[in-house]
Amino acid sequence: MQATLSSIQDYLHSASTTILALLFLGVSLVWLCAGDSAWALSGHTAHRAIAGLSRSVPGGAALVSFSVGLTRFVVASRPETARELLTSNAFADRPIKDAARSLLFHRAMGFAPSGDYWRALRRISTTYLFSARRVAASASCRLAVGEGMLDQVAARGGDVVVMRRVLHGASLEHVMATVFGTRYDAASQDGVDLEAMVKEGYELLGMFNWGDHLPLLKWLDLQGVRKGCRRLVRRVDVYVRKIIEEHKHRRLGGGEGDLLAAGAGDFVDVLLGLEGEDKLAESDMVALLWEMIFRGTDTVAILLEWIMARMVLHPDIQAKAQAEIDALVGRGRTVTDADIGSLPYLQCIVKETLRMHPPGPLLSWARLAVHDAHVGGHLVTVGTTAMVNMWAIAHDPEIWPEPDAFRPERFAEEDVSVLGSDLRLAPFGAGRRICPGRALALATVHLWLAQLLHRFQWVPADACGVDLSERLNMSLEMEKPLLCKAKTRLRPVKY
Ligand code: HEM
Repeated sequence: MQATLSSIQDYLHSASTTILALLFLGVSLVWLCAGDSAWALSGHTAHRAIAGLSRSVPGGAALVSFSVGLTRFVVASRPETARELLTSNAFADRPIKDAARSLLFHRAMGFAPSGDYWRALRRISTTYLFSARRVAASASCRLAVGEGMLDQVAARGGDVVVMRRVLHGASLEHVMATVFGTRYDAASQDGVDLEAMVKEGYELLGMFNWGDHLPLLKWLDLQGVRKGCRRLVRRVDVYVRKIIEEHKHRRLGGGEGDLLAAGAGDFVDVLLGLEGEDKLAESDMVALLWEMIFRGTDTVAILLEWIMARMVLHPDIQAKAQAEIDALVGRGRTVTDADIGSLPYLQCIVKETLRMHPPGPLLSWARLAVHDAHVGGHLVTVGTTAMVNMWAIAHDPEIWPEPDAFRPERFAEEDVSVLGSDLRLAPFGAGRRICPGRALALATVHLWLAQLLHRFQWVPADACGVDLSERLNMSLEMEKPLLCKAKTRLRPVKY
């Protein structure tokens, strides 16, 4: 039976392009005739399409609603409706896509329903991975990874640098060190495997899967999403369990007994040390650990690539940031985590990039209405998928004068928090399900940016300059990888 089913699925998969094209055409026509906007979610700039839809109403609609297949969507495009939606208990769950379930993410924090299990995961990771103490404890690791990144750039000897490659490698190395306590070597077979798994996971989760909206298509799996996920999850399982086994072995070796009490040890040690109600099954541990690698890697690398694109595009802003760093740090030592609080202009650059290029323009992870609720005076019924168009809010000329101008100074004129209290700019979300990794992400982005600017001057790779075209996968990426050249400003200084 298993073999027959799989051969039917293989056959259907091979015929999928034609069938899918016909279904897509038919279904789209029905929706478009009914005035819906199925196209908006399948495009690579869905945030812009939905923003256009919202602005097409005189005065701009604070809440847009439409359907894709059997899924009803509402999208908040104003700070007030965004706040209502993100902070309401009615939207504390997330809709779980077929790919996310197949990749075991329903057992991780991001997609777990907001019950006891989710609360326990959130508490454990906030205490042992994301708290201010733990973020501070990983400062030396961040610094060392950042320096490794500078050495890689220096090794190019002024030749073209593919920023994405350098940033992605550093980000993965940092996550592996903080979560797994493991050294990630991009050149080793393990490193190559890990990089490939993260990339494949992003592609599968980022894909617009019609099966999520039409039950028949879900069963047929014509796009091969579920099949791809199952293949990937087997590899992930082997990879993560091997690391867990190594940690268990080390613990048995003695001397590791009280890692937690000592505040040492990595996140795997923490999970293995949990007792009583908090104790996790090993399969749940795999899901949670995989989620951390997965979420922690790309977001940081993508944001830094946008920031560096802006630095190359605006040499005056780059020079101003470098002058700020030089004035504080001088040229005789490296910049560290402790300096970041005294670099306000650098922080303004990060905020302005989060405003112009939020990694999650639709906040990436949608919410689900668990019961009927009112948002902006409109009834949103149970089962509706709710999103916030943070990109639209961050580009609204009524909120941000000259929204298309890259002007970090605007944050010096008015301090706006990006940590979820001010919905004019909430790139990490808000409410109970706000991004728990925001402090770690910001610490990393600030330090590495300071290191990159302190040591090098960044210029375009060629006369074509910088292409700011966007591509929305799971996150909003630069469509064309940033290519630039780095001119040494100062000799490397090591402690
Ligand atoms: C620039 C970097 C990052 C951005 C822009 C970002 C953004 C977001 C957003 C918008 C959400 C959804 C919030 C909501 O629904 O209100 C989220 C959730 C989440 N993020 Fe991040 N994130 C970043 C980095 C990280 C890092 C470094 C980690 C962990 C290593 C992480 C782990 C998570 C997790 C686990 C959730 C799900 C939380 C839950 O559902 O309870 N993120 N993130």
